[in-house]
Amino acid sequence: MGLVALDQLQEGVILSEDVRDINGRLMLSKGQQITANHIRIFRIWGIPEIPVDAPQRSTPADHASQKNTEKLLKTEHTVKKIFQNIDTHHPGIAALFKAAVDHRYEKDLLVEFGPQEPLADNFKLDLSSGLKTQIAFSEIQLPEAPEIISDYNKVVEDPLSSSNDIADVVNRSPSLAALLLKVVNSAFYGFPSKIDSLARAVSIIGTKDINALVTSISIMRLFHEMPEDLIDVATFRKHSLACGLLSRILAAQRKLPHTERLFVSGLLHDIGRLVWYRYFPEQAKLLLYMAKRTGLSVYEIEKECLGISHVQIAGHLLKKWKLPLSLANSIVYHHRPSRSPDPCEAGIVHMADIAINALGLGHSGEHIIPRFEAATWDRIGVAPGILMSAIGQTIEQLDVMEALLTEL
Ligand SMILES: [Fe+2]
Ligand SMILES: [Fe+2]
Repeated sequence: MGLVALDQLQEGVILSEDVRDINGRLMLSKGQQITANHIRIFRIWGIPEIPVDAPQRSTPADHASQKNTEKLLKTEHTVKKIFQNIDTHHPGIAALFKAAVDHRYEKDLLVEFGPQEPLADNFKLDLSSGLKTQIAFSEIQLPEAPEIISDYNKVVEDPLSSSNDIADVVNRSPSLAALLLKVVNSAFYGFPSKIDSLARAVSIIGTKDINALVTSISIMRLFHEMPEDLIDVATFRKHSLACGLLSRILAAQRKLPHTERLFVSGLLHDIGRLVWYRYFPEQAKLLLYMAKRTGLSVYEIEKECLGISHVQIAGHLLKKWKLPLSLANSIVYHHRPSRSPDPCEAGIVHMADIAINALGLGHSGEHIIPRFEAATWDRIGVAPGILMSAIGQTIEQLDVMEALLTEL
């Protein structure tokens, strides 16, 4: 018997033990022969390793010799710049570096993000140059919470509410209801038969997952318009969604009970940046320039430059919207998970953000990977091989979800 990473599993091998999902539900019994459909379902549910009778030897094809050397060197150069503030000696980061080169090579992601045009000649890099960049918190008009979230929370918190009551609230927004049904019927969940009503979706998937989807979709909809010269909404959404998906998969592998909460935390982790882009575009533009000039991440200089960081903004926003602290903590501390009351959950979002930035799955404004807390590896207990497998699953799920969420 041997455990085989899902991305190396081949059709035709025999399962040596039962495979169960995070909730202990039997997915496939011992003795069955693995098919392509089984592999697809394992991916959807984030199963990282499969026990099989004859352990397969890892046979990663050596594509290096088939690669265009010039393009490969350019890709490696780009990735080195992106990793400039990260110690690549750790085996996990070394594996992530290689995955970043492979993915960016394959997808032609050679272009560096961040402002390309030079700063004006008279621009002074000195942070005390007198430019009006500092923003007082009182200047920031935080948007109101989407109405549906408070209505929804009221009905969910009522112990007498039925799945019909919950569905009725969501159905008040027909476009949200239609989108939710598409998501629950997609490969993201992988149910064999069609779920044709929200009430049924609530009873099958459960209020926790529906709640996560209602909250995250409603909030992302608030920020559907952004200054185009600063950030592309679709690209930002891709970064957010990829981080949510990877956080959810890592939480499942760590056997955490609230995988849906990690999905929402990952999805909303950079929501504070959207406040910059939307309400303070001039300062945000300056911030992006200065990050690139100084070689620091945007996160590292935003407090000095603007007086407040995107995670502080997120903290105020989530408090104003009365979202649970357990959700907010992983967002507020996603750059410094060791300071979170729950460093494991914050560490998962931190790890996911680092990985998504490395591979260039979307973009949130950072031109390099923000600093990584190395203690995260032990804290979240995810081996490098498992992270690579989780990234592969994320890319697969991302294609499905991204297509659905273009309708936001
Ligand atoms: Fe961030
Ligand atoms: Fe991010």
